[in-house]
Order: sequence, then structure tokens, then C-alpha cells
Amino acid sequence: MDRKESFIENPGQFEKIEQILLDLIPSLPEAKEFCKLTLPNGEEFQLPILKGTNGPPMIDIRSLHDKTGYFTFDPGYTCTGSCSSQITFIDGDKGILRYRGYPIEKLAEICSFEETCYLLLYGELPSRKDLEIFCEAMKDEMLIHEQLISFYKGFQKGAHPMAILVGVVGALSAFMHDGLDLKNKVEREKTAIKLVSKFPMISALAYRTAMGLPIIYPKRNLTYTQNFLYMMYCDKTDIENYKVDEFLADVLDKILVLHADHEQNASTATVRIAGSSIANPYACIAAGIASLWGPAHGGANEAVLDMLEKIGSIENIPKFIEDVKAKRDGVRLMGFGHRVYKNYDPRANLMRDLCHKVLDYLEVKSDPFMKMAVELERIALSDEYFIKRKLYPNVDFYSGIVLNAIGIPKSMFTVIFALARSIGWIAQWREMISESVIRIGRPRQLYVGYDRREVKSVGSRLDTFENKSDIKQRSNRRRFSVTKP
Ligand code: ACO
Repeated sequence: MDRKESFIENPGQFEKIEQILLDLIPSLPEAKEFCKLTLPNGEEFQLPILKGTNGPPMIDIRSLHDKTGYFTFDPGYTCTGSCSSQITFIDGDKGILRYRGYPIEKLAEICSFEETCYLLLYGELPSRKDLEIFCEAMKDEMLIHEQLISFYKGFQKGAHPMAILVGVVGALSAFMHDGLDLKNKVEREKTAIKLVSKFPMISALAYRTAMGLPIIYPKRNLTYTQNFLYMMYCDKTDIENYKVDEFLADVLDKILVLHADHEQNASTATVRIAGSSIANPYACIAAGIASLWGPAHGGANEAVLDMLEKIGSIENIPKFIEDVKAKRDGVRLMGFGHRVYKNYDPRANLMRDLCHKVLDYLEVKSDPFMKMAVELERIALSDEYFIKRKLYPNVDFYSGIVLNAIGIPKSMFTVIFALARSIGWIAQWREMISESVIRIGRPRQLYVGYDRREVKSVGSRLDTFENKSDIKQRSNRRRFSVTKP
């Protein structure tokens, strides 16, 4: 295959891929059952029930407003399906996670991150030949535009790598906008491959910028994960002698597989909503990165380490748990709880095993963070507060400890999550954008503000502030009261 041709543009390959892509567009099942809704005035309406391959049935309320004049109210979308998808399935009660039908445990054991990317994009695990072609196509796209590198120079040393990531991925849209036709299948494929392929360099450069280190370019003979580690850690003055630790690269690769997709979580839903206006896909991914950063979502891995540092030692755990249960200052047990899992997050189990493997490999006899995490988990799982609320460790509880043991700085934890999730975001975006009818994401609200009132002229309105410093104090107070949960 000619290196210059993209994977998708190769004529023989394209015919095969075109059929695969058609099969990957989700179609809605036909409703065979209906439920009855009775309004306060006694009128009755039939609503169809949709059943997917797995998971709870859903009441199709798309015609609800037209038929009844009512909307549904569901802040945080706790009971609302926003799309149909073929990509990922989660059963939160049973602790099941599957990508395209394959259990996460098996994928993490057997498959590389590149194989997982192929699976998420093309629906099947690749043959050896498919994988080779795919990896070559990714390597063709792993460099970023030299001018994009100038963007990094605008960030000060010490800037949070996630802040850099949001900015630079957003800026990528300026390089990939003109002529980008999202109706064109080939363009969409190229977009997906480009985004995922460039992510290691973009992420590693975020770290090097934050550390004030010179840029390192990727190497063709390294795998996706090895390249990321190489670009992050290689000493610019000793490039020839730098060797990626294969064991640790393999562990990181498994971590990437575990984080690759998680159906309609906050950041993926953000990417889909942004994409539903047919916005530039790179800008949509930047929106997803912003959503991921929060400590309630992907930022929890960094917050777990912050929490463990704050607790300090095992003796302080009972007091900390008391604070959590009393909801003192909104403190939460970070890395615990999940909107969907009301049982073990299967990724948390795998992550704990990886933690032990890494500590053994590094011959760390007793890691203080690991000791505290195990004790926190033991106490929480036997405490009525956590049992009643079905709060179990999630993927982030142990991931920070593994990454810390590998030597990854805390501020890079969520960047690594984003690196892994780039494939999930773009696969979900592509699934949405390939549908024949795309409806813009636009929720409704229950308005509880003032009813109509009259506008008074400025002279007849009441004072709120005594003087200018009042306003300044109020805005400062607000700024400083933003604390991590
Ligand atoms: N520690 C203590 N209490 C908790 C925790 C926690 N980690 N999580 C939930 N609760 C409590 C809440 O206070 C609430 O109690 P109440 O019934 O007395 O009011 C109850 O459990 C339900 O919590 P909600 O916030 O309503 O649950 P929701 O599904 O909206 O939130 C979330 C899920 C955001 C993950 C939450 O569990 C949390 O904040 N966890 C800590 C942060 C974290 O680890 N996030 C990573 C999630 S995984 C991921 O995104 C990759």
C-alpha cells in the first residue's frame, strides 16, 4: 500500500470498508409493545417501548409533546436515552462492560490499544493484515502540523496539561476546517484516524510544555503507547540511548484499553451534543476534553491522589470517612460511586490487579498510597453509608496509584484518560454523524424564574451594593470558594 494514500482511500480497501461502515449505522428496533400514559384530565396516550439487544427497555417519548403538550423532567439525564448505539454496552447492576460485544476483561488481556481502536471504529477485531494496514495508516498521521507546535509556546511553564490539551485540540480545528466535508465518508474516516493518531504527540507535548522541556517527535518503529512514553520521557540530549520500558508500556496500553470507551458518559455526551450542530469534529473533541477534566468525571484520578495525599496516613482514614459520611464541606470519597455501576466497576478490579503487578515489577514492597487505598476500600465496602448508596470503587480509584507508580505526574493522569478516550469520542461522533437524520441536541427546561414583569428606568431601581469594593469582594469570594469536592 502506498504510504501516501490513506487507509480509507485505497480503492480495494474502500469497497470493503464502505459496506462495514453502512452496517455500523445504528437502526432503531421496531416497537412491538406499548405503554399507556394517563394525563391529569383523564386522557390516555400510547407510547411505544423500544428494546435493544441488551439493557433495559426504553419508553419512546419522541411524540409525547406533540400528542400531549407535556415534556419530561430529568436533570442529569438519569433515566434518558439520548441515542441508539452499537458501540459499548454497560450493565451497571451486574458490573458488565463490553466493546462491540467483547468483554472488557478479555480485551484488556489479549488486545493492544491499536486493536481496540480498530474494533471501536470498524466493529470487528482486526486480522493480522488489517492491523498492519491500520497501524501504518495511524503512523502516517502521527505528526502534528509544525505551526500547531507554536501554540504550545503560548502557555507558561507550569500550566496544567489538561488546560493545554483543551486549547491545542481546539486549535487543531483551525488546521482541519476548510474543505472538511462531513457528509463525505472518506473525510469522516480520515478525521477519526487523524485525531487518534495525533493524540500521543499532542498529549506528550502538553506535558513537555508544562515542564519546560524541548519537543520530541514520534518514531515509526514504536507502538502507539510506546511512542507516547518515548515522547514524554526521552532525554533530548540522549535520544539514541532512550529505551521504553516494555513492561510498563504494556501496562499503560492495558490502561488505555480500559478507558477507550464508556458509552454515553458526560464527555462523550458532550462530544455528541457539540457534534449534533455539525460543528468541526476537533472542536467537538475539545469540548469533550473540557467535560472530562472535572473531578466528578475523568479528573477523579488526579483528585484521588490529592485525597490520599491529604489523608496522609492510614490512622487518619476513620476521621476522613466520618467527614465523607457527614458530607462535611462537600467532601467525597473520590474514585467511589458511579452513575451507572451500582456494583463493582469491572475496570476497577482490573486496575487493582495492574497496580499489584506494577508494584511487584518495580519491587516496591509497600506503597503508602496503595496501602491507604486498600484500607479505604475495605472500610467503605463494609460501611452502611456506602452499602446503602451502592457506592463501589470506580476506574479512577486505582488508576492514579498505578500511573503514579509508573512515574507519571499527577497532572497528566487525566490527559492519559483523554488519550485513551479519544478513540471512544471519535467513534461515537462518527456513529452519530453517519446517521441519515441528525437531530440537534437540545434539552428542555422547567422554568421557575419570574413571571413577566415591568422594566423600571435606572433611577427608580433599588441599590444592591453600598460601593465599588462590595462588587469586587463578592466576585473574589466567588472565585476563592470554588473548591474541589
Ligand atoms: N463519596 C461519598 N458519597 C457519595 C459519593 C462519593 N464518592 N458518590 C455519591 N455519593 C452519595 C451522594 O452524596 C448521594 O447521597 P444522598 O443520597 O445522601 O444525597 C448519593 O451517594 C448519590 O450520589 P449522586 O451524586 O446523586 O450520584 P450521581 O450518579 O449523580 O454521581 C458520581 C455519580 C459523580 C460519579 C459520584 O458518585 C461522585 O461524585 N463520585 C466521586 C467522583 C468520582 O470518582 N468520579 C469518577 C466517576 S467514573 C468516571 O467518570 C470515569
